Amino acid sequence: MRDREALESFVRRLPKAELHVHLEGTLEPELALTIAERNGISPPFPSIEAAKAAYRFENLQSFLDVYYATTAVLRTEQDFYDLAWAYLTRAAEQNVRHVEPFFDPQAHLARGVPFGIFIAGILLALEDAEAQLGITSRLIMCFLRDHSVEDARKTLATAHLYRHRIAGVGLDSAEAGYPPELFRDVFAEAAAYGMHRVAHAGEEGPPEYVAAALDLLGAERIDHGVRSLEDPALVERLARERVPLTVCPLSNVKLRVVPSLEQHPLKRMLDAGLLVTVNSDDPAYFGGYLVENYVVAALALDLSRDEIVTLAENSFVASFLDESAKAAHVEAVRAAAALP
Ligand code: ADE
Ligand code: ZN
Repeated sequence: MRDREALESFVRRLPKAELHVHLEGTLEPELALTIAERNGISPPFPSIEAAKAAYRFENLQSFLDVYYATTAVLRTEQDFYDLAWAYLTRAAEQNVRHVEPFFDPQAHLARGVPFGIFIAGILLALEDAEAQLGITSRLIMCFLRDHSVEDARKTLATAHLYRHRIAGVGLDSAEAGYPPELFRDVFAEAAAYGMHRVAHAGEEGPPEYVAAALDLLGAERIDHGVRSLEDPALVERLARERVPLTVCPLSNVKLRVVPSLEQHPLKRMLDAGLLVTVNSDDPAYFGGYLVENYVVAALALDLSRDEIVTLAENSFVASFLDESAKAAHVEAVRAAAALP
């Protein structure tokens, strides 16, 4: 589909799930400034324009430096509520019906914000979103792979109190040099608590990290995974085992994981029979929320209507919803796609 307006309204009307979005990555500069001011702390940038000008990244680490610095404005339960609520209302406007957002507890604990503060704000926003916007959710806490394993273990122990409200664990932050095997025991512990497991792998790290996330962490989904294409045997395995991959087109271009949208591997991944989904990752930094990611990828890669519908269906199939909810959402995607 090449007509941008028609494409955008088609994507917008399809029900969609978002499975790879960092709540901290939805912190728009306007909200960051408001929060910094009300907390009486110096803002991470002098103006909105300066923030936006600074959002040009060389690689994952140069982004993470800005992301953690901006995240540092978040202090109170209200801050976390406002952050999550702003994302959820935008998601509702884009007909996102289900979300499985990430948050980074260690980033906040390291600044002295207690677990009970940020989790309360996030959970209240998720509850309100279900009641007022009809968006269901499963929350995922990520371990920072560039922090110590001991720190991850302590964080999991703290999270245990809120275990019934946290659906799973993930692994994010700087990837290269921090292989999945470091976190094998922590993930095993989370599995023993009945938590789902996902992991960022194959974003900047090699395809071996994708295989290690599956084999050693028991990851049920791979976040990014775009570098899997460098290993045909791995691609064959991912297709055979129907391993979901949460792909983030705008993020990959902004962080120079791929040189351009036209060269993004999303279409090749679909052609290889992989269970791929489209997601926004850190939309406040990368120039678009979920609909924009679908639209720019579809335009650059000339995706067909059927491929776009498959991506929307996959977003529910790859979720942690139960089978009957997945089937109902997939049915709703097909019904919306069939409208004239
Ligand atoms: N944390 C936030 N966004 C991330 C990304 N794209 N990769 C790794 N860690 C992240
Ligand atoms: Zn991510």
